[in-house]
Amino acid sequence: MRIAFIGMGKLGFPCAVALAMKGHQVFGYDTNSTLIEGYTRGEVTPFEPGLDQQYASCRDNIKFCASIDEAVGASEAIFVATPTPHAPSHDGSFPYDGVPRDFDNSFIETCLVDIGRAIRTHARDGVFRNVLVISTVTPGTMVNQLGPATEKAAGRAIGDGWTMVYNPFFIGQSTVVKDFLQPEFVLLGCPVNDGGAGERLSRALYSTLHDRPICPMNWTEAECVKLCYNTYLGLKVLFANTVMELAHRMGHVNCDVVNGTLKLARDRLVSPKYMDGGMADGGPCHGRDQMAMSFTARSLGLRYNIFDAINHGRDEQTSWLADVILEERAGRPVVLLGMAFKENTNQTQGSPALLLANILRQKGVFPVMHDPAIRPDAELPTKPAVYFIATRWSEYRNFAFRPGDTVIDPWRMIKDVGPGVKLISLGAGRNEAVTITTESFRNGATKAATPLAKAV
Ligand SMILES: NC(=O)c1ccc[n+]([C@@H]2O[C@H](COP(=O)([O-])OP(=O)(O)OC[C@H]3O[C@@H](n4cnc5c(N)ncnc54)[C@H](O)[C@@H]3O)[C@@H](O)[C@H]2O)c1
Repeated sequence: MRIAFIGMGKLGFPCAVALAMKGHQVFGYDTNSTLIEGYTRGEVTPFEPGLDQQYASCRDNIKFCASIDEAVGASEAIFVATPTPHAPSHDGSFPYDGVPRDFDNSFIETCLVDIGRAIRTHARDGVFRNVLVISTVTPGTMVNQLGPATEKAAGRAIGDGWTMVYNPFFIGQSTVVKDFLQPEFVLLGCPVNDGGAGERLSRALYSTLHDRPICPMNWTEAECVKLCYNTYLGLKVLFANTVMELAHRMGHVNCDVVNGTLKLARDRLVSPKYMDGGMADGGPCHGRDQMAMSFTARSLGLRYNIFDAINHGRDEQTSWLADVILEERAGRPVVLLGMAFKENTNQTQGSPALLLANILRQKGVFPVMHDPAIRPDAELPTKPAVYFIATRWSEYRNFAFRPGDTVIDPWRMIKDVGPGVKLISLGAGRNEAVTITTESFRNGATKAATPLAKAV
C-alpha cells in the first residue's frame, strides 16, 4: 500500500520503518527539516534498540516528501503522529499545581487542516483516502474540534472520497516497532457518517501487519480507551509504590513479597506488569494523559476525581523519596543515577527522576545528574556522597560505589555495594517492626523502630 506518515518523531519514524519493513511504500513528512535531512543521510534519531538496522533494511521503501500535499497526494492511507504537548510544567517533571490542563491541540489541528486542503486538491484522482489520527487527545476533541476543522479544509464531508479514523497506539518508548507490529489490540475510532469505510479500509491495512484483535468503536470511545489505559497503568504504579512506602515505614515487610504475591492473582487483579514498586509512573505519555483525564473529569463535574488523586499521589511519593535522601544526606553531595524516565531510552519527558530533582531543588539541594544514555560523563563527586538510583539501568547494578557512600535504591536492584557503603533498599524490609500507637496514628508518624528477632 502507499502510506503517508505525517510527523516522524519518536513514534512516527519507527512506525514508518515498521510499515516499510512490511513492504509498504511510505511517504514521510515532518516540519522539522533537520530531522528529515538526518534520516535522508541514514541517521536514526529516536533512541530505539535495533532501529538503525531495521531502517537500513528498508530505506528504499521510504520517500521523504517536501510537503503534506505531496505526501497525501501520493497515498491512500495517511497516519498522523504530530505532538499534542502539555506545557513542560504539566508534563510530569514538575509537581502538579492542582489545576489540570487539556493538551495543546494546535499542532495536530494545523496539520489536519493541511491534510484536509491536500484532500481537496487531489479530490479528482479517484483515490478514497483514509486519515488515521494517532496523536493523543482528550475525549471529545475529534468530534468537537479536529473532525470539523478537517472537513472544512477538505471542502467535503467525511464519507465523500475520504474518511478519518482515530487510531491511538499503545506503544512504549524503546519498543515502538515491536509494540506496533504485535499490539494487544488495535483501536479504530470510526466516524458515524462514513458508511463503514474507515473501519473497512483500516482493517485491510492492519491485516497486512498482524492478526491481532481489532476493536471498532466511535471516535470518543477510542479517545477514552487510550487515556483510561494509560491512567490505569499510572494507578497500578501508584498502588505498587504505596505498598513500597508502607513496607519501608513498617520495617518488617518486604514490598516484593506483597506485590509479588498480588501479581499471582491474575484472575482478579489482571496482569503482573507495573506492579513492582519504585519510581513514579512517567514518560512522554502517562503523566500527561493522567493530567488530561483529570481535566476531563473536572470539566464534566465528577464528584470524586481519581485522576487528580493519582497526580497528587505521584508528587507526594516522590516528595517522600526526596525526604529519605535529605534524612541520609548529612552534608554530602547528592547524585541521582538516571535521568531517563525508564531504562533503555534517552527520553526525559515526564521523567520521575527529573521530578525528584526538581523537588530536591525546591528543598534547597541541587543533585548531580548522571545517565548512561544522556549524561554519561557527568562529573561525579570525589568525596563520599548519597547516590539515589532514579532509573533502573542495568549499568548501575555494578556501579563502583566507594566507602562512605550511601546508596538509596527504590527498585531493590542493587545487591552488593562493597565494604563501607550503606545500602538502603526501599521497601525491602529491615527485620525490624514499627510500633503503631494511637499517638502516631494521630500525628501520621510512626515511633522508633524496634528490632525483631526474626523477619516475619
Ligand atoms: N512516543 C510514543 O511512544 C507515543 C505513544 C503513543 C502516542 N503518542 C502520541 O503521538 C503523538 C506524537 O508523539 P511523539 O512522541 O512521536 O512526538 P515527537 O515530538 O517526538 O514527534 C512529533 C513530530 O511531529 C512533527 N510535527 C509537528 N507539527 C507538524 C506538522 N504540522 N506536520 C508534520 N510534522 C509535524 C514534529 O516536528 C515532530 O518531529 C503525541 O500526541 C503523543 O502523545 C506517542
